[in-house]
This record gives sequence, structure tokens and C-alpha cells, in this order.
Amino acid sequence: MDTSTDVLADQVRAKRTAIDNDLELLRVKVAQADPRRVDKEKLAKRAAPVVGPLLAGAAVWMLARRRRAVGSLEQLLVHTMGDLYRAELALLPALERMRAAATNPDLVSAFQQHAQETRGHIDRLERAFRSIGAKPKRGVSESVASVVAEGERLLKRRVDPDVRDAWLIANAQKAEHLEIAGYGTARTFAQTLGYTFAAQLLQETLEEERATDEKLTRLAERFVNPQSIR
Ligand SMILES: [Fe+2]
Repeated sequence: MDTSTDVLADQVRAKRTAIDNDLELLRVKVAQADPRRVDKEKLAKRAAPVVGPLLAGAAVWMLARRRRAVGSLEQLLVHTMGDLYRAELALLPALERMRAAATNPDLVSAFQQHAQETRGHIDRLERAFRSIGAKPKRGVSESVASVVAEGERLLKRRVDPDVRDAWLIANAQKAEHLEIAGYGTARTFAQTLGYTFAAQLLQETLEEERATDEKLTRLAERFVNPQSIR
């Protein structure tokens, strides 16, 4: 349970206590009053401000719990692989745009090669999904959405070409690090669950992501960063 859910749970508990107190007060008043003179509408109006928000809060809390429900390691594997799949689909066009924006020929070639590899990563994930009898969902990757958005902002800015190359590498490496973490986690989940073939596919991609990350580091250290401080 995260902090927001804790806060919501505390609010629900506080409201529940408040309504219990109010209802107890009402019960005392009703017991003291002549039953023929109890105004049911007035009673309902008095309870509504407490009951309404309580029910709404409880509904939101239950919905949040339901949305986040991941009941098994298998579901967590599907969730992790799904996020990787959506990340690769988002990164493929982003890599093409980064390649077009890069100046250093080695960087252009690195982006070109990784875009080609990324097509293979998408294919491997689809095969891994089939091998475990699951399907990926389309949508936005929670892990790389902000990196892709930052890349888009970068490409719209007027920046010195060498500085832009350094920035492109930094942005690409953020995505690589997220992917490396995701693939390493998914590979280990798959191994733990006995999905040997899926684990092997995830490991192959993990190695390519690591190799790309190292290549980008070498490029940054040898060519791009020194040029960008001229
Ligand atoms: Fe990838």
C-alpha cells in the first residue's frame, strides 16, 4: 500500500469514527423523542454529509486497491514484460528521431543499430509472451514515458550540435538503464517461475541493452562530451 492509499485509509477510518459518533448521538435523541415526532427527512439530511463522503472515499480506496491488485509473481512478470513491451514500442520511433537529430557519425550509427535491435526486442517480447500463454497490453509505458517526453522537448530546442549529441546520449542512457533494470527483473521472475525459454529471450535482450549502454558511454567519453565543451 502506498502513501496516498494510507492517507485515504486514514481518512476513511476517521470518517467511519465520525459517523459512528453521529449515529450514536442520533440514536440517543431518537430514543428520547416521541417516535411519532421523528422527522425521517431531517434525519437523512443530517446523516448525508457524513455518509456521502465516506462512501465516495471508500469507493475510491477500493477502486485503487483493485487497480493495483497483483496477486502473484506470474502476474508481476506479465506486468513487467508488458511495461517493457510498451517501452520498446515508444522507444523505436524515439530512436529514429534521435538518429535523425544526431551529428556525430558514430552516434548516428549507434542509434541506427539500436533501432534495428529494438525491432528484435519487440519480437522477442512477443515470443516470450506467447511462451508463457499471455498477451501484452498496448498503452503508455509507465517507466519510460517521462524519458521519451524529455527527448521530445530536447529535439525541439535550438542547441549546439555537439551539446545536443551529449544530451541525446544522456537521454538515451536513461532509457537504457530503465530497460536494463526491467529486463533483469523480468528475466529473474521468469527463471523463478520455470519459464526457461522466456528467461532466455529476456536475457538476450538484456545483454544487447547493456552493450548499447556501454557503447554510448564510450562515445560520450571519447568524442561527444569533449567536443561539447570546446
Ligand atoms: Fe530495448
